Amino acid sequence: MDKNLLIFEDPDDLVNRFVELWKEIAGAALREKDEFTAALSGGKTPDPFYRGLAEAVDLPWRRTHLFLADERFVPPDHPDSNYRLIRVSLINRIAIPPGNVHPVDTGRGSPEEAALRYGDEIGRTLHLSGNAWPVFDLIVLGIGEDGHTASLFPGHPVLQEKNEITAAVFLEKSGRHDRITLTLPVFNHAKTIIFLLTGREKASILGQILDGENKSLPAAMVKPESGSIYFLVDAAAGSEVRKSNPGTTI
Ligand code: 6PG
Repeated sequence: MDKNLLIFEDPDDLVNRFVELWKEIAGAALREKDEFTAALSGGKTPDPFYRGLAEAVDLPWRRTHLFLADERFVPPDHPDSNYRLIRVSLINRIAIPPGNVHPVDTGRGSPEEAALRYGDEIGRTLHLSGNAWPVFDLIVLGIGEDGHTASLFPGHPVLQEKNEITAAVFLEKSGRHDRITLTLPVFNHAKTIIFLLTGREKASILGQILDGENKSLPAAMVKPESGSIYFLVDAAAGSEVRKSNPGTTI
């Protein structure tokens, strides 16, 4: 696994590096096959990054398929819907064929049913046969202050999932919405993972993850076997890792 930590003082440089990386990863994928596949996260952090993508010229949207890394089990117009964020900051601003956008269908049935349907949709779109794992070209993730990533929370049994592509996650005790998430093996079969972290409140958790202090944190368990992993970070989020990570690029 190839691991890269990139810290930027200037927020515009950070977004521009994300857009460049996206372009490189999409270009490499499309030299090998017809379609570039990416799964995106919600949360607050990615908004400026997705807006940056939307402004970039000559990204191959016609040959790009967009999925969600996780979703809250709420209607698509709900303020907490990840699809809503992605629609507003990216999809509504780019020329992507509607059939290339793959939201989680949260409009019917239970979270478990929605997770199964989403797994089927991924299988169909990525032409999976048998028990093959999907290999996304790129998965964009955030990290919560408790070390969660996508909807994989510390100590949650879904972290042990070894067979399914997707899972329903119930968080009733925390008062959070139920969720649908891609599972850890999917993240670990991806070609590239980009973690986006901004703000001082992410400094401590990023430090812990990069120093390998707590290997059971969900974000620390994301290690794409034969892929690359990038931490794209602003100066505030990177303030506790510079000294111990000499490979840091600024
Ligand atoms: C979500 C995410 C989640 C997020 C982290 C960080 O649905 O909320 O996919 O895993 O990436 O919670 O969230 P912020 O970017 O809001 O800090």
